[in-house]
Amino acid sequence: MSANAPLGIGMLGNGFMAKAHTKALLDTGALRNGAPRTALISIAGRNEASLVEACQQYGWESYTTDWREQVNDPRIGLFHNTGPNALHVEPTVAALRAGKHVLCEKPLAAGADDAFHMWQTAASAGVTHMCGFNFRFAPAVRLAHDMVEAGEIGDIIHFRAQFLESSGLDDRAITWRDSATEAGSGAIGDLGSHIIDLARWLAGELVAVQAFSRTVIPQRGSDRVEVDDAFGALVDFEGGAGGVLEASRVAGGFGSRCAFEIDGTLGSVRFTSERLNDLEHAGRDRVIKTIRVTGAAHPFMELWWPNPGHVVGWGDTFTHEVDHLLAAIAGRSTVAPLGADFGDGYRCAEVCDALLRATISNAREPITYRSLDPSATAPDRLRAAVA
Ligand SMILES: NC(=O)c1ccc[n+]([C@@H]2O[C@H](COP(=O)([O-])OP(=O)(O)OC[C@H]3O[C@@H](n4cnc5c(N)ncnc54)[C@H](O)[C@@H]3O)[C@@H](O)[C@H]2O)c1
Repeated sequence: MSANAPLGIGMLGNGFMAKAHTKALLDTGALRNGAPRTALISIAGRNEASLVEACQQYGWESYTTDWREQVNDPRIGLFHNTGPNALHVEPTVAALRAGKHVLCEKPLAAGADDAFHMWQTAASAGVTHMCGFNFRFAPAVRLAHDMVEAGEIGDIIHFRAQFLESSGLDDRAITWRDSATEAGSGAIGDLGSHIIDLARWLAGELVAVQAFSRTVIPQRGSDRVEVDDAFGALVDFEGGAGGVLEASRVAGGFGSRCAFEIDGTLGSVRFTSERLNDLEHAGRDRVIKTIRVTGAAHPFMELWWPNPGHVVGWGDTFTHEVDHLLAAIAGRSTVAPLGADFGDGYRCAEVCDALLRATISNAREPITYRSLDPSATAPDRLRAAVA
């Protein structure tokens, strides 16, 4: 591939997340002058008619029902894995071994063993790797992170987060999300992984968990639901803070709410995705201020409009994420620590596994993390595939 050639994209999956990622790729080129150019080479799915539609709607050049063709396609430099959880490990590992950069959706894998294998493979391939924790790319969430890092909240005492959705209450057929082998877990890995990632990124590494889970809807049609649809957990952070995490797919009628609060010795911040452009902050004076994160200097605003003040939406977090990834591939930055790489995806998977253990043992489960063998990692030798 010549230095000026566009970066070829292969996308596995043609569902919800494929739409979010494709839109982000199209946005990135349109929004940033000088952004690395990308070419939508190939989309993979199972239903040929909907793949034809994806080509017509988004401009994918080709489609396939066999992701192996993408992994072996020399025109593809970046592989987006937006398949079901159980399809994260094999195609991602194959793409990494073929020297492709990879953005893999969360949870990185259905379990920590697979996630560790993916991280190890990515590190030894020397390519750029990212796990799709898009809430890091909401401007208000990045601002909360920056305030914590700057010491404005002081030492963290409490972290609490919720991810509550209602769609599980719909009368729908069984899907891969209800299967233990295809999903790994239910609300824990699906919604919980987002707030675990936020907990780790904002408040530090988790060292132990206690948890309960429920399967409120145990059957869909004649099929048995094999995973949890709600959980709650108490968590310990390595810095001594304590936390509470809760996620549900069957939480009444509000639709979707990802929210957190951080309390420290100097003050508090709180965020909810229902008011995505706002971060609330209170210092020791207990005056609550709402920061509308649409100023020219606020995170990600340089991507958008000439005049500050315009709000962004949930879908735009994927645009910010892809913009960050392309900058890392071009060698202008790194995915971590502001974005989540496969190391973050792996550590999150260890927490999910510990939560699952805790729901069975009813005990406080410690979490241990594996380290990479430094001799098995390679420098980022395959960067700068784009101008
Ligand atoms: N970051 C987020 O906010 C977010 C939101 C939703 C889902 N996700 C994650 O994204 C991933 C996909 O979720 P989704 O909601 O897009 O699922 P989905 O069911 O809407 O789409 C999955 C796609 O994978 C395709 N697929 C399944 N098996 C295949 C195979 N063998 N070969 C080719 N294609 C195959 C299906 O045809 C479908 O197009 C999951 O890991 C999920 O956890 C992330």
